Amino acid sequence: MRSTVRKSTDVASAKGDLLVVAVATGQTVPQGPAVDVDRALNGSLAAAMKAKDIEGKAGQSLVFHTGGALPARRVVAVGVGDGAPDDWREAGAGAARAAGSGKVKTVALVPPDDAGAAEVSAFAEGLGTGVYRFDRFKSSDAKKVPDRLAVHSATLRSSDLARTQLVVEAVNAARDLINTPANHLTPAMLGDYARGLAEGVQGLKVTVLDRARLEKLGAGGLLAVSQGSAQPPRLIVMRYTPPARGRAPEVLGLVGKAVTFDTGGISIKPSGGMEEMKMDMGGGAAVIEATALIARLGLPLEVITVVPSTENMPSGTAIKPGDVVTAMNGKTIEILNTDAEGRLILADGLTYAARQGATRLVDFATLTGAIVVALGEVYAGLFGSDDEWTALVREASETSGDIAWPMPLHKRYRPLLDSKVADIANISNKRQAGAILAAEFLKEFTEDVPWAHVDIAGSGMVGGAGTGFGVRLALAVAERLASSETT
Ligand code: BES
Ligand code: MN
Ligand code: ZN
Repeated sequence: MRSTVRKSTDVASAKGDLLVVAVATGQTVPQGPAVDVDRALNGSLAAAMKAKDIEGKAGQSLVFHTGGALPARRVVAVGVGDGAPDDWREAGAGAARAAGSGKVKTVALVPPDDAGAAEVSAFAEGLGTGVYRFDRFKSSDAKKVPDRLAVHSATLRSSDLARTQLVVEAVNAARDLINTPANHLTPAMLGDYARGLAEGVQGLKVTVLDRARLEKLGAGGLLAVSQGSAQPPRLIVMRYTPPARGRAPEVLGLVGKAVTFDTGGISIKPSGGMEEMKMDMGGGAAVIEATALIARLGLPLEVITVVPSTENMPSGTAIKPGDVVTAMNGKTIEILNTDAEGRLILADGLTYAARQGATRLVDFATLTGAIVVALGEVYAGLFGSDDEWTALVREASETSGDIAWPMPLHKRYRPLLDSKVADIANISNKRQAGAILAAEFLKEFTEDVPWAHVDIAGSGMVGGAGTGFGVRLALAVAERLASSETT
């Protein structure tokens, strides 16, 4: 969505198809720009506020037709809550819903004086992600969605919104990847996509490792999961090297699970709802888009991104319960359940990122159904091996809007993964602490590099569609690390 700032703050000159005015919680009469809108609407807005049809609750909206009284055909009053950026983001999403009729191309916003760049950017983010549709496979004329935001402000500049525009594009691109059916997005295609993303982006290089390279590296976890599939695996590696000057001492390692379809393998899943497992590559999609975004924004931080990608299929060549494989770090794993495949491929992804020089690791993965039971589709689960690093990720999650809640690790969990025959088993047969045990498993492959793990099985897919969760969190983590001086 293109955003521009117009200097005139007069509602009578705001053109757009839909004019947005803000109503804050506790406001009982129109204020600021809403006064002029109310006048043009012959007091309808004031009457609606008096009747409590609109109360300022973040994201709430009420549409008025202007009947020619203003250049905009329609006005929408949207609640901005108490005016926090998060509430403005909700307001943007509310405006997107109100624009849903399909006839709106340009949204105009006349923000109140107390809304600055952070608030207006959050609104633009909520609007830009809110109008997203996945209509690639609809053959009838795709619905027109708003693609322009005109902000009428004397103080803001278009450059204040440039970052937001890139963020919105990255989040929506991740959602496109996630929503794409598995027959249109194989591991090889995801690798090609990542390669294409790097074209023309300063400092960004992509290497895609194929099966032969993975065999040389001893990537036994990724190879094991992929052996049941006709689609060959890929290890997608993206490196962003900023210009040397002012570069942070740390190297951020982003790792993302990209199982382009998870049937469960021989430990096959029930068929109802299995189509959602095309989204089992949401972590990979998030870190791929986040890396390109970090590079486009030119952050002064080195980043290495590693995305193990495969299908998980049952077949005559598939791994079987009881099989033992050797991961890249030399540890042997007894595969007791082939549906716990994410941890097998992430094991190699984490080891590889650490060995390639990452000094801080964070992985994103649609890893466990257990995290959905624990935290629903709202919070992601956050685990970590280093309190300081985990705290940084936790704080970044609050400012980014991709919220993650701390979950525990403890060495007393580790015996549940003891195997009779190998160094570790990929599941416990006790029905306990499923999300924690998955994290405990991953920790064994992090080469003692400070590591955080974000389980996005709930937050990454809501209502049967990808959310792009992780793009904004990975960016916020990178921004914090780039500005930290610790080594
Ligand atoms: N991809 C799934 C996790 C998942 C479940 C993501 C629901 C999104 C929604 C993962 O590979 C999986 O199958 N996990 C198993 C692990 C179990 C076998 C220990 C699970 O959570 O049931
Ligand atoms: Mn699985
Ligand atoms: Zn999976």
